[in-house]
Amino acid sequence: MNLPQRYLITAALPYANGLKHIGHLAGAYLPADIYTRYLRAQKRDVVFVCGSDEHGTAIPIQATKEGTTAQAIIDKYHPIIKQNFAHLGISFDIYHRTSAAIHHETAQEFFTALNDNGHLITKETEQYYDEQAQSFLADRFIKGTCPNCAYDGAYGDQCENCGKSLSPDELINPVSTLSGNAPIKKLTTHWYLPLNKHEDFLRKWIIEEHGNDWRANVVGQCKSWIDGGLQPRAVTRDLDWGVKVPPSKVQGESSLTDGKVLYVWFDAPIGYISATKQWALDNGKDWKPYWESKDTKLVHFIGKDNIVFHCIIFPVMLQLHGNILPENVPANEFMNLEGDKMSTSRNWKLEMDDYINDFIKPENGGSQLADSLRYYLTLIAPETKDSEFTWKGFQDANNNELVSIFGNFINRALVLMHKLCKGKVPPLHTAVMDELDHEAIANIKSTKEKVEKLLEEYKFRDALFEVINLARIGNQYMQKKEPWIVAKRLSADDGLLTLDGSKNRVDQQLIDNCLHICLQLTANLAVLINPFLPFTAKKICYLLKVVDKVLDWENAGSMKLLSVGYSLRSPELLFRKIEDEEIAQQLAKLGEKVEAIKVKKDEPVMEQPTAKIVSVKPVIEFDDFAKIDLKVGTIVAAEKVAKADKLLKLQVDLGFETRTIVSGIAMHFEPSKIIGKQVTVVCNLAPRKMRGIESNGMILMAEDAAGKLHFMNPETAIDNGSGVS
Ligand code: 2FM
Ligand code: ZN
Repeated sequence: MNLPQRYLITAALPYANGLKHIGHLAGAYLPADIYTRYLRAQKRDVVFVCGSDEHGTAIPIQATKEGTTAQAIIDKYHPIIKQNFAHLGISFDIYHRTSAAIHHETAQEFFTALNDNGHLITKETEQYYDEQAQSFLADRFIKGTCPNCAYDGAYGDQCENCGKSLSPDELINPVSTLSGNAPIKKLTTHWYLPLNKHEDFLRKWIIEEHGNDWRANVVGQCKSWIDGGLQPRAVTRDLDWGVKVPPSKVQGESSLTDGKVLYVWFDAPIGYISATKQWALDNGKDWKPYWESKDTKLVHFIGKDNIVFHCIIFPVMLQLHGNILPENVPANEFMNLEGDKMSTSRNWKLEMDDYINDFIKPENGGSQLADSLRYYLTLIAPETKDSEFTWKGFQDANNNELVSIFGNFINRALVLMHKLCKGKVPPLHTAVMDELDHEAIANIKSTKEKVEKLLEEYKFRDALFEVINLARIGNQYMQKKEPWIVAKRLSADDGLLTLDGSKNRVDQQLIDNCLHICLQLTANLAVLINPFLPFTAKKICYLLKVVDKVLDWENAGSMKLLSVGYSLRSPELLFRKIEDEEIAQQLAKLGEKVEAIKVKKDEPVMEQPTAKIVSVKPVIEFDDFAKIDLKVGTIVAAEKVAKADKLLKLQVDLGFETRTIVSGIAMHFEPSKIIGKQVTVVCNLAPRKMRGIESNGMILMAEDAAGKLHFMNPETAIDNGSGVS
């Protein structure tokens, strides 16, 4: 196999208008980092680029909502996201930004080159326009009812409820999010990439050339797009936030570029190129071969929602512009959280920032716990289907695998070496080696080959399994060899004064062999785990008193990583246990989010209540409903919960007892004004702790289209404890 001369690894540029969650991390950044670290350990020429995606309509809309500017938003989030990635060991060679001047120039040059060469077309069409705001309504500036799922908050580019990509024309009852008014239609001219002309190229490249080596989900999605017939895709917008459309040299187009910017999905992937340019400038390198030479292997790591952009639109752009195409686009499916889809808009997520604050602070375990998260996210990576993060699963993976298998093996090897081999790497006495010794050594070598093959195939989950399995094999080997029993025999024999001492010598040799193999296996584990858990690999190097150079991939499989007679450090634990209490706290935090969601009003700018609520949950059986114990109660006390803007602590008299219930209604009601109100209570909901207060039930509220909450109470007062059915 001819190895590529260089690699360019990209991970989807995250939007810089909010914190990123662990679903993002698991989807693109962590697998990209594992792959890059593996290539670096192979000493291959590799550049890993990423950065903030800072354009699009979501950012100015958010700025208006928050009473600030788009620039202030991206300046706030860019450094935090960058820092979060660093804390979790994501080792970009550059984390760039699409607001940088070099990016604007690069994107404009790209557009101009395509346009000047006749690869773009212009079309005059009628687009939605807000007369009051005097603005065209691109993408998220327009909302309406989704034609696919009837959700009434769908945007002009996508419905966040069902995920379908939309165009503004498809929305039912469209409304401007600038003024809340119904828009009119107005003529405007835009540039389009005529994807319809490139169907044959795409079919050949994706289906024929990569149909077998790309992931099935990626090929399947592309195939259905192509089979559905591709349409010309607008690559410009009437907006003022973004990369300005450069003045056109094409006759008749010169005056049309005013007030227009490149569509965010046109400029963002070019961000990979501008990031590479900036990296090259910073490091005295030439960026061109990375994007122009056939010897470069380009790999895009993304989540499945980005497949069309990276496998269809951007490749067409690259091809027309004379750049190389990606060799692979290993897109992941989604990762759910505790039974529900992770979502920023619904606040159902675990942010990297939260995890870092709760676990990675030095007093909580530091970078050890960064590796624990990397471990669990890789173990459950959604490589072929959606997967599920649960806090219990995280705790089990950490405690039962990292602590009990991986950490335990290395710790035992070091403890026994200090106890039975005077703190030095013992020699290997080949004359007394047995079947188990040979088998352990063979496993070290074969694990290297398996891991390598799996990593080259982007099967990170399986590769990690093989590494942990090697530690498991190490434990079993040690358990079978029982050097501590041999040592006991040896010390008992010591008192016997044997004539020639030969038995003693053999016993010490057996101990030496076991510990020699376990220590070489430990060093191998450091090399093999390095791409996945880099902090742990370094810590093992520290314990073995070897330089990080030992982590070079060529060392995997070697039985000569530690010199005989070399003294090693005293053992230190590689991982700490995660306690039940910590898991309970995280689950309680999620509970608070659910409460907060109930009162959160996702208010578009000056938006008027528009449509009635149309979505209905899936049908349930009567028996399911009958399990819910609903009773009427009276609020007898109410107070705000400290440091929680949204929570009230209520005492509710249910006739047979008075319950404490924590409810997320503080933004809607003054505590003193609701005392004496009758409410409907779900009495048999499992207790849940919120801000340290145990909540025993939930009160039912109705939310109207304007987001205002209403009590669900009887028309006239009735006895507390009355059943509701
Ligand atoms: O989906 C997203 O988060 C986009 N910001 C990804 C862009 S990837 C690339 F094209 F820049
Ligand atoms: Zn929808």
